[in-house]
Amino acid sequence: MEKLLISGGKPLKGEVRISGAKNSVLPILAASLLSDEEVIIGNVPHLQDVTTTISLLTEMGATLSIDEKMKVSINSSSMKSFYAPYEMVKTMRASILVLGPLLAHFGIAKVSLPGGCAIGSRPVNLHIEGLKAMGANIKVEDGYIIAKAKRLKGAKISLPIATVTGTENLMMAATLASGKTVIKNAAKEPEIIDLANCLRLMGASIEGDGTSDITIIGVKKLSGCNYDVLPDRIETATFLVAAAITKGNLTLTHTRPDTIKVIINKLRKAGAQILIKNDSINIEVKSQLNAVNIITNPYPDFPTDMQAQFIALNSISKGKSKVVESVFENRFMHVQELVRMGADIEINGNTAIIKGVKGLTGAPVMATDLRASASLILAGLVAKGETIVDRIYHIDRGYECIEEKLTKIGASIKRLPQ
Ligand code: UD1
Repeated sequence: MEKLLISGGKPLKGEVRISGAKNSVLPILAASLLSDEEVIIGNVPHLQDVTTTISLLTEMGATLSIDEKMKVSINSSSMKSFYAPYEMVKTMRASILVLGPLLAHFGIAKVSLPGGCAIGSRPVNLHIEGLKAMGANIKVEDGYIIAKAKRLKGAKISLPIATVTGTENLMMAATLASGKTVIKNAAKEPEIIDLANCLRLMGASIEGDGTSDITIIGVKKLSGCNYDVLPDRIETATFLVAAAITKGNLTLTHTRPDTIKVIINKLRKAGAQILIKNDSINIEVKSQLNAVNIITNPYPDFPTDMQAQFIALNSISKGKSKVVESVFENRFMHVQELVRMGADIEINGNTAIIKGVKGLTGAPVMATDLRASASLILAGLVAKGETIVDRIYHIDRGYECIEEKLTKIGASIKRLPQ
């Protein structure tokens, strides 16, 4: 397995261009299954999860091409199968996003249940229940969701949890259903708005995205479109923390500062100087930051996808801090690895208590999931000596050209072959 070798201690300086958002491009790629016409998607990040989704769509028979700028064109009028096998879904849970579009457009879908993952059990019962409420006939057999429907019917769906991909699956399914669908307690993430913007360009009638009540009036068919995905707010925030943890000075371009207000506020509270322009952010950190308390929750609150990176930052900040993980049940796998690098962190249920230390020391560490990998790389960037992060395939799922981007701003980081 490939590893990353990092020699820590260099302040990061310069400019980073932020890539398109992983959590936007995955549902938008799935949305192309709702139309018989060509859907062209721009600002697509070069990520393993994108490659997996593209393979899934082509395996099902969609016609797909990618140009040198990673503009992806998809035409699903040539679809032959409506099947997402376990081998693909297990490597990328977001494969579940094809369920709603397949059912709404083709009336049939067989999608593997994702099963558990490193950060918790992560069921998809709410996706299934919502589609059933829209009239789908769904059974779960041998680990597969087998779904059929003539034409889905609009329904009122109240989600007990504001699930992100659940909201996206139901919103996509409702675009081709007959009548009106109302999703109550919908997720409000910027990626939901991004998907809705793309679906509207395809001719869908959607209102209320970005609030907890989304209303969709179904139409008979959707057209093709040409759409650029939103910049990645988690990549943006991870680079802000990279500047903060190394006491650097970075300008992040092609981003959307309005999608990470909560992160910017936390970093300012910690003592970072942050300047915002339309689509760029400059961060400068001159001295050790103060630790900040965090409670993760759905948007617009603090994102669970930034919890691991802030634990790394807090571990070398001044004072004691408390980080509460409220979204996933088992998302502290990075903590034991950070402790091996000299961090002082105790876990009590869903709470991490962190006592800031003067510095971290390099060590061989193991990445367990995507954001945990980011947190270990951040720790490696500031640690004394060499850190080797193993199982780096996780990072390639969600961060485009991570070592190239970090090298350009002064980090000493290199990929070691298997
Ligand atoms: C999405 C993001 C992921 C992020 C997460 C939370 C994508 C591709 N992934 O994941 O990066 O960490 O949102 O912001 O956008 N739940 C149920 N039943 C369901 C669905 C969810 O109980 O049917 C629970 C989950 O176990 C979890 C909570 O709801 O505790 C939130 O999960 P959810 O919003 O669904 O996460 P994802 O959409 O999988």
